[in-house]
Amino acid sequence: MNPGMILGTVQSSIGYIVLFLVCLLCVVYGIASIRSGKRAAGSEVALAPNRKPYYDNQTLETTRLNRVLVICFATLAAISLILPLYWLAEPGRMDGWVEHYNDTFVKTGGKLFAANNKDNPDGLGCADCHGASATGGVAKYTITDADGRFIKQVSWQAPALDTAALRFNRAQLREIITYGRPFSPMAGWGAAGGGSENAQSIEDIISYLESIQISPAKAQQQVQQGLKAEKAAAAAAGKPYTSDGQALFNLGYYSGFAGGAYSCGRCHTQGWSYGDKGPDGDGAYGPNLTDTTGQFPGATAGVVSMVNFVCQGSMMGAQYGVHGLGTGRMPAFCQTKAYNPNTDELASQLNVPSQDQGAPGSGMMTQADVAEIVRYVRGL
Ligand code: HEC
Ligand code: HEC
Repeated sequence: MNPGMILGTVQSSIGYIVLFLVCLLCVVYGIASIRSGKRAAGSEVALAPNRKPYYDNQTLETTRLNRVLVICFATLAAISLILPLYWLAEPGRMDGWVEHYNDTFVKTGGKLFAANNKDNPDGLGCADCHGASATGGVAKYTITDADGRFIKQVSWQAPALDTAALRFNRAQLREIITYGRPFSPMAGWGAAGGGSENAQSIEDIISYLESIQISPAKAQQQVQQGLKAEKAAAAAAGKPYTSDGQALFNLGYYSGFAGGAYSCGRCHTQGWSYGDKGPDGDGAYGPNLTDTTGQFPGATAGVVSMVNFVCQGSMMGAQYGVHGLGTGRMPAFCQTKAYNPNTDELASQLNVPSQDQGAPGSGMMTQADVAEIVRYVRGL
């Protein structure tokens, strides 16, 4: 628990104790005055307040005056202590509530993400495809032709999502989860995308995903292990890679590593996700990459600007290369994505963190890995 939360609880406990004491005092006072009222019955002549002799001057100006002044001073002191103490604890208390709300969002999102069963009737079953701990998996899918006729049943790789917030920002994740990827097993879950979930549920799921992200350092380390496994699997399949760039472009194709989350092929090569890929970069969800020197021209400048683009990914409405217009669907590979308030209609909500463009190296891969891939892609 964070200190603000504890402060908040301590403060409300004190509040409850004070409330209890005040109620107790009221009751005691009530009982006492009823009892003294009974005693006084019949002797009003002697006991009525206006018939009792009052203090004489001497007492009024010394004992009585002093007592009243002491009471005033004590009250003033109490107020001047309690007020600042209250305001000191207030920011902590408010932070505590923000945290408390976030915890609730994350918990609710976790339930939505998990498999649907008796113990978890709210589950949407994201975990069935993306893996119970969001480390990637596969989904059954039926490929049809343009007329909707059955072609074949395939196993489609579902990317790991424990790095999804390293490659997409919150607005982009919201877009994907709301509308899905219609040509793939990934359905639209938000009401706007034909799904069943309201905006709050989508936010909860994103909060959950953000809470389970691995660090960029860990992701970069995973890439090195995955690269080894992928090269070994490709060799075992009799199709050894000719360069690390090619292996990274296809990371997970033969090994299933992270559900292909780190690869380029899953978006840029037809059939990649279900083990039936065409030539690398022939274009699918992402554009054809066999002539990127047109978009990023220049032997040196082209490489630099292309590495930067792949590192940072695309942003909705932002230009890239010579004539590219971003949609925010190209992930960031070595720099966490910039927060873009222009595309984020929910930006003013409590739970939407503003996020600056991360430093180079703050993403899933190192810049050196991306440079390796870019060298390979420019030769396609
Ligand atoms: C039937 C299987 C299935 C289910 C259920 C499913 N997904 Fe997916 N999801 C996929 C597949 C497959 C992809 C990759 C699609 C592609 O090839 O572009 C994907 C892609 C994604 C992506 C984009 C990741 C990236 O890096 O491109 C996100 C985010 C995502 N899913 C979140 C969710 C959430 C949240 C849920 C639950 C509400 C969910 N998915 C349920 C199969 C599924
Ligand atoms: C989740 C899908 C996805 C993945 C994974 C992905 N891309 Fe992309 N990529 C896109 C989309 C979509 C575009 C088009 C730009 C846009 O919509 O913003 C794009 C555009 C590009 C472009 C610009 C092409 C042009 O001619 O305009 C390059 C270069 C590129 N990607 C390289 C890569 C590389 C290299 C990787 C792997 C390190 C990669 N992409 C991984 C979806 C993806």
